[in-house]
Amino acid sequence: MSIKEKDDEPVSEKNNEKDVTILAIESSCDETAAAVVRNGREVLSNIISSQIALHTIYGGVVPEIASRKHVEKMNGCIRAALSEAELTLKDIDAVAVTYGPGLVGALLVGVSEAKAIAFATGKPLIGVHHIEGHISANFIENKDLEPPFVCLVVSGGHSHLVVVKDYGEYEIIGQTRDDAAGEAFDKVARAIGLGYPGGPKIDKAAREGNPEAFSFPQAQIPDAEYDFSFSGLKSSVLNYINQAKMQGNELNSNDVAASFQRAVVEVLAGHAVKACKEYGYNKLAIAGGVASNSALRELLEKECEKNHISFYRPSPVLCTDNAAMIGAAAYYEYKKGVRFGLDMNAVPNLPLGDRERRFHAGKN
Ligand code: KG4
Ligand code: ZN
Repeated sequence: MSIKEKDDEPVSEKNNEKDVTILAIESSCDETAAAVVRNGREVLSNIISSQIALHTIYGGVVPEIASRKHVEKMNGCIRAALSEAELTLKDIDAVAVTYGPGLVGALLVGVSEAKAIAFATGKPLIGVHHIEGHISANFIENKDLEPPFVCLVVSGGHSHLVVVKDYGEYEIIGQTRDDAAGEAFDKVARAIGLGYPGGPKIDKAAREGNPEAFSFPQAQIPDAEYDFSFSGLKSSVLNYINQAKMQGNELNSNDVAASFQRAVVEVLAGHAVKACKEYGYNKLAIAGGVASNSALRELLEKECEKNHISFYRPSPVLCTDNAAMIGAAAYYEYKKGVRFGLDMNAVPNLPLGDRERRFHAGKN
């Protein structure tokens, strides 16, 4: 797969004079999404076709079904995104797409679509890392936010603590050793009988429960203080539920949800605030599906205020998967002159970080 920087073209000078309008596509998991974003921060349209209802029957995302649904919905989403933005493909400066990480079959639908549009229109093609998209969601509603800052990225597949050094430049300072935060929410929700997707259901149930009812473990990793581990917490909650069932005790699922949620958000917020203080950053952003969790947002708001840290959080609709965030991330790549070839492929395990990304894209 080729990726090239057009060092020979005065791209930035040219772009300073005119708006850059990007059509962005996202299909890495169970949302088919298309958006039109201007200059990285202005969302002209943001269309999301969710498959949640479909996968709920199975208690989680079924990759094959997700891919098929993406094929069915993709063209409609793109048409709707262009129509809501009152633009046609002629008005677009580039087409951007999530090319990893994610479910390979699901990613391939978006990648193929973006390549077809780029080929047919002759417009530049830009591949975006999904997590880079989540982080960039913060730029949309916070016009003043600029790197460097710390970002806590918590989704169904990732839990990363990242220093965003510059646009597209990241240093991962902590990550999960086992389950992602969202994965833990989903598994515990299933065990309590709340169903899929677990995060929003636990968030809601927890509002009716006592967060102090149980003291579930909050793992700290001695040799890597910013890493996370949620598998012990998950096992502890599952053991408690099984024991209660075996002993015929009634399970107060709201209390379990609230106590589990407290354990997760205290660790996430604790690590994030500590990282800001120790690394000397006074800006903290959050990103990913779990960033829409109300308890996490409340706790971080309080802790950031106490520690004189500016706290940035996207609206919930920009925390979960969407294409506007992909358009935001793509703009900064476009400005740098990054262009992908039509040999772009889906990379299901694409790591975060410029050097690795280029390596995976076959530059070296
Ligand atoms: O970012 P996202 O939409 O997809 C991935 O890239 O994974 O994140 C989905 C994850 C799911 O695990 C879901 O349960 C979790 O985010 N989530 C939440 C909430 N809303 C979504 N977790 C906790 N509280 C929420 N309100
Ligand atoms: Zn995501």
